[in-house]
Amino acid sequence: MTTATRRTFTEAVGTPHPRVEGRDKVTGAARYAGDIPFAGLAHGWLVLSTVARGRISSLETAPVLAMPGVLAVLHHGNAPRVETGYTGMLSVPDPTAAVFQHDRVPHLGWPVALVVATTPEQAREAAEALVVHYDVEPHDIAFSGDRPDAYPVDGHMPGVTEKGDLAAQLAASAVTLDEEYTTPEMHHSMMEPHAATARWDGGRLELIDSNQGTHWVQSELAQMFSLDPGSVRVRSEHVGGGFGSKGVRAHQVAAVMAATVLQRPVRVVMTRRQMFSLTGYRSPTAQRVRLGADADGRLRALEHRSLNLTSTFHEYVEPSAGVARVMYDADAHRTANEVVRLDVPTPTWMRAPGEAPGSFALECALDELAEKCGIDPIELRARNEPERGPVSGLPFAGRNLLACFREGARRFGWADRDPRPGLRRDGRWLLGTGTAAASFPSGALPSTAAVTAEADGTFTVRVNAADIGTGARTALTLVAADALETAPDRVRVRLGDSDLGPASIAGGSMGTRSWSWAVTAAAAELRERLALNTGIPPEGITVRSDTTEALGALAQKERHSFGAQFAEVAVDVTTGEVRVRRMLGIFAAGRIVNPLTARSQLVGGMIWGISMALHEEAVRDRASGGHYGADLAGYHVATHADVGRVEADWVEDHDPEDPVGIKGVGEIGVVGAAAAVANAVWHATGVRHRALPIRPDRVLAAAAGGRHV
Ligand code: MOS
Repeated sequence: MTTATRRTFTEAVGTPHPRVEGRDKVTGAARYAGDIPFAGLAHGWLVLSTVARGRISSLETAPVLAMPGVLAVLHHGNAPRVETGYTGMLSVPDPTAAVFQHDRVPHLGWPVALVVATTPEQAREAAEALVVHYDVEPHDIAFSGDRPDAYPVDGHMPGVTEKGDLAAQLAASAVTLDEEYTTPEMHHSMMEPHAATARWDGGRLELIDSNQGTHWVQSELAQMFSLDPGSVRVRSEHVGGGFGSKGVRAHQVAAVMAATVLQRPVRVVMTRRQMFSLTGYRSPTAQRVRLGADADGRLRALEHRSLNLTSTFHEYVEPSAGVARVMYDADAHRTANEVVRLDVPTPTWMRAPGEAPGSFALECALDELAEKCGIDPIELRARNEPERGPVSGLPFAGRNLLACFREGARRFGWADRDPRPGLRRDGRWLLGTGTAAASFPSGALPSTAAVTAEADGTFTVRVNAADIGTGARTALTLVAADALETAPDRVRVRLGDSDLGPASIAGGSMGTRSWSWAVTAAAAELRERLALNTGIPPEGITVRSDTTEALGALAQKERHSFGAQFAEVAVDVTTGEVRVRRMLGIFAAGRIVNPLTARSQLVGGMIWGISMALHEEAVRDRASGGHYGADLAGYHVATHADVGRVEADWVEDHDPEDPVGIKGVGEIGVVGAAAAVANAVWHATGVRHRALPIRPDRVLAAAAGGRHV
């Protein structure tokens, strides 16, 4: 790849820049998937099962078909057949979204029918009137850390890693710890619900959708409906959040089926309640951490086991034990991800899958070990900084964890901290501070891009990125401006359309880096072409790129972003209320393209950590198998009043092997954040909370009784 020589222009990357589509969004001009008008549009409403396990014995469709405006009722008896063995993101068959293909009900809230009508109101009324009969079977949704039917996974990433003699090293340790940490079921709760409109247009299927990658959705839908990918076009211009949940889901598949049957455009929008069973979620985890250390805190033994649940029909792994494979080494080192299959929907990726719950367990355990050793928690981490990846044995491409802790400690005022718990008061509040480390992989996925020099002196960048609210469109504008040595206002970015070609999803914190790589490569070659001074024809000059081969440069090293989280909490032990007064996160997350939107990503992740620590918990009723309060009244997320002063900043951490120096900022903000809050609650009260969320009743129970809950 050629390196652009820097001349006299103002570098856009690294300079705060408001979103290029910001005005459109705040004035309502930006259209989302459920907003775009179509002539002849019909509306589908999903009908979900009311039992957790069994078979559909019959559906009383005749009365519903007679209702006003009803056009069709699709179900397993009449819906088009699809390929249920289609392969998803991880190249394994995933039948989670293959609806209406059989009479089995694998969980409460499984789609059993789609009622299509002329208006959404008619569709909803008819859907709610549809009577479905079931042969009910007993279900089992009881998740706990001691399920005898749990099994270690052996999937796309190793389920189990081990080295050394754990029992011997634990026996030889001066200090040991053996604790269970649990995290509950959590939901993505993005602002924009899932919505899709499908229509056939001259033999081509077109889908207007809200997703994290139109190429991804195109590929899976083409497989399911046995279509050539080129005859499927997926567009997704504006997306109101995804967090891992916006891939192929029941609504797109049902919309395509209905558009095919009725030969007219059909829109399916989910309600917030439906999303609780149809769009994935973060599995609850039961994690066990065993640590053994010398008196000076050096780890001899580290074991991290994590159990998550999955559905009966698809194995999803929340790889929480993976965080220990990167963070800390020990003479004996064992990590294991295990799953148990229950009668529940399939969980999925949710912001920092694995790292978010895994860091809660591991970083709380480190804090407990620091207490037992009488060592400052930051010093304990410094003493356990590995030279190489503890499991991979690979060198780190960059590991600026201690730089984050140094800068964070300075700004947070950590040096003055009295390590003893339960000593500080502010009126009725007990005060405490806590810290935790963060890490998240920094990868990249193959992407293509096209950059056009227009005859009017502007540039058009075409890259099939997804801006799911992250500011990707703006970041790519800045990256392209620098690569073209022009001003950002001379660059327009087109994204969110599968016709633009293959590109990374907005996921795994890889989007901006992957797309920027492709844009930079195309722009560099375009500049060489323009340097020939042959003039620009009316159609412009276009250069295309494909990073598939270039990404090989990233192999053979452990690549991660790192961070240090700090929290100060106030705890009222008479009401059980925990308030997070301030948080500071310092990150080493590569070159920051747009400080304005990157800070939003990091602060958003940290707020999510507050929410995870104190509020979020989806509770299932064992009798019905469904949720209590499947809505944003019953499922609590942190709101403005719950969030104190949250600051995020970064240290210099350019990735030398990335053309722009990017690593990625989408997920690391949440990693370690809940642990920092929980460690601060211990420092305030002297009580270790190992079960999230730290609810008022748990704080009260701890104050009344045992010191450990
Ligand atoms: Mo993210 S959980 O990779 O959208």
